[in-house]
Amino acid sequence: MQKLIFTNDVSNELDALINEMAPDKVAMLCDSHTFQIAEGLAPSGAEIICLGAGDENKNLDSVSEVWTHLSLNGYTRNSLLVNVGGGMITDLGGFAAACFKRGIRFINVPTTLLGAVDAAVGGKTGINFLDFKNEIGAFCEAQAVIISTRYFSTLPAAELRSGFAEMLKHGLISSAEAYGRLMAFDIVEADLDALLPLLQESVEVKRRIVAEDPREQGIRRALNLGHTAGHAFESYALERKEPIPHGFAVAHGLLVEMILSHLQLGFPSSELHRYASLLREAYFPAPPISCKDYDALLGLMSHDKKNRRTGEINFTLLSDSGVPVIDRTATPDEIRTALDLYRDLLGL
Ligand SMILES: NC(=O)c1ccc[n+]([C@@H]2O[C@H](COP(=O)([O-])OP(=O)(O)OC[C@H]3O[C@@H](n4cnc5c(N)ncnc54)[C@H](O)[C@@H]3O)[C@@H](O)[C@H]2O)c1
Ligand SMILES: [Zn+2]
Repeated sequence: MQKLIFTNDVSNELDALINEMAPDKVAMLCDSHTFQIAEGLAPSGAEIICLGAGDENKNLDSVSEVWTHLSLNGYTRNSLLVNVGGGMITDLGGFAAACFKRGIRFINVPTTLLGAVDAAVGGKTGINFLDFKNEIGAFCEAQAVIISTRYFSTLPAAELRSGFAEMLKHGLISSAEAYGRLMAFDIVEADLDALLPLLQESVEVKRRIVAEDPREQGIRRALNLGHTAGHAFESYALERKEPIPHGFAVAHGLLVEMILSHLQLGFPSSELHRYASLLREAYFPAPPISCKDYDALLGLMSHDKKNRRTGEINFTLLSDSGVPVIDRTATPDEIRTALDLYRDLLGL
């Protein structure tokens, strides 16, 4: 089972793990923004492979760069790759490790909140290919993930809030109490020490769900909450050349899906108002949506790869905070109504 370590002393934990695993060689993988962190953590003798930063580098050329380095420098089945970076590095590094000599061990040290709460844990690895996101990849878990909030002090505020949206999602699908603790946390003036226990609770939610359903045959789909509407917002913003961070799109997608949950399953309306105030405080500007955009958004939702039958739009909804209901569908009319209410609640 994947080891999850929550600490603000990453260096010691990493040294101890490496001692225990006794690899013949260690390579650290990072991007240009996390190079210093990787350098600070590298045990003596470890080599550092540094890629260009940004999702445009999560591609086959970068994987080839990693494999070339490993092949030409004597790495074996008993070597170890330590991925130090955001989701781009842990996705790519995990995939490179999963295939090199049919699989070597790897450790993830996420340096973004999104990486820590989502990408580094759960075994989905991969790269973008042609114009398709995460088109090529493998399910392969890191031996260990070392999670610290200390690296987040250099993250742009929007990146921190973006990752927090995934934590809110984990709260909403796990328990009213966990969700309440997140709603009480001030992500605008974030206290990173106080964030660590909340992050731990949140990552445990993902780990528990993934352990129950590693291949997404059932309950893992609860993790898609907020993402049907969220992906549509994200893709639409991208098409209009006004990209928004993934987590901002998810944060807004969560409100749309809470409204659908209210309409279909009686999710409490008081919660809609409370959540809308958080969005106004931390996730504005909102995606620029008017009723003229609904057709385009519905088109994007009906092409979502999570849909199980053509013409049907699939959602994970909630009957209450902490109670997800997977495999729900909504009609275009219901979605239009939800989008109207979403705009009303946010005063758009
Ligand atoms: N495998 C999964 O289950 C899963 C889940 C969610 C997202 N993802 C993937 O994760 C990626 C997005 O993750 P991300 O937002 O971490 O992207 P990212 O890794 O591209 O990081 C965002 C930016 O922050 C920089 N950065 C990283 N750490 C930093 C730090 N401590 N201080 C300052 N800057 C820092 C990076 O260099 C980059 O420029 C996408 O490729 C997405 O597909 C995967
Ligand atoms: Zn997401």
